[in-house]
Amino acid sequence: MHELYHENSKLFPELARELARSFSGADDAAARLTGRAFRQYPRAEAVPLPDADVPSTALADVLLARRSRRELSAPIGLGDLGVLLRLALGPSAVIEDEEGLPVQALRTWPSGGGLYPIEAYVVAQRVEGLDPGVYHFNPIAEALERLAPAGDVDAVLRDGFFWQDFLVDASAIVVLGAVFHRTVSKYGERGYRLVLLDAGHVGQNLVLVAELLGLPSLPISGYCDDALGEALGLDGVDEAVVHTVALGGRP
Ligand SMILES: Cc1cc2nc3c(=O)[nH]c(=O)nc-3n(C[C@H](O)[C@H](O)[C@H](O)COP(=O)(O)O)c2cc1C
Repeated sequence: MHELYHENSKLFPELARELARSFSGADDAAARLTGRAFRQYPRAEAVPLPDADVPSTALADVLLARRSRRELSAPIGLGDLGVLLRLALGPSAVIEDEEGLPVQALRTWPSGGGLYPIEAYVVAQRVEGLDPGVYHFNPIAEALERLAPAGDVDAVLRDGFFWQDFLVDASAIVVLGAVFHRTVSKYGERGYRLVLLDAGHVGQNLVLVAELLGLPSLPISGYCDDALGEALGLDGVDEAVVHTVALGGRP
């Protein structure tokens, strides 16, 4: 029940004071919490994302032109996909430790507490220069890491999106997974709200950058949580699918 959930995740002065107390005086813990909010699959085959030109269209024009579009079957170029993922998902800066190892990737979306609970995956069906498959976006390497999905891409799209024609035909779908503990371990029940708000910010970045590039896009909440999560190897508890954005190439 949303009423109950909303009530239980309200912030009030006493709780705010308690949370503030738990944040202060624990610098090491805070640093650990806000560090490394990204995942990498070092053993996966990695496909580097090529550079490509970014159009200089004014933000106002992009905002006014954006529409949800359902003709998504034209192939997408890997260059376009690379620009889309880099601009929509970051990183905009990488913080390194004394040894030069990345400890945090700041992203192009604002994140509650800077905790970045969102991981992004791409179900690629018709991307020129990329084998059809399921990939994880690595923001440090700016590469796609190939995962071993349960089933082929066709089955992932059919079972993940209830056989909806325009989604089964989509050239690519970006799936956003939420690693809840990154945010909930700091903010408790309220953290769940923050995770979903983060996903909304990422989704908006994706559809606006798609519009900038002239690519049709469609945010979708009509996915089968368990089928899609299983295909990506998410357990649905510690990490679960919270949003998806389908993409096509230029018509
Ligand atoms: C969170 C979210 C979920 C959505 N889910 C679906 C969906 O499952 N199927 C669909 O056809 N459109 C979906 N849409 C697209 C909306 O129908 C669309 O944004 C709305 O009708 C307004 O049209 P516009 O985006 O062209 O301005 C979704 C949009 C959002 C923001």
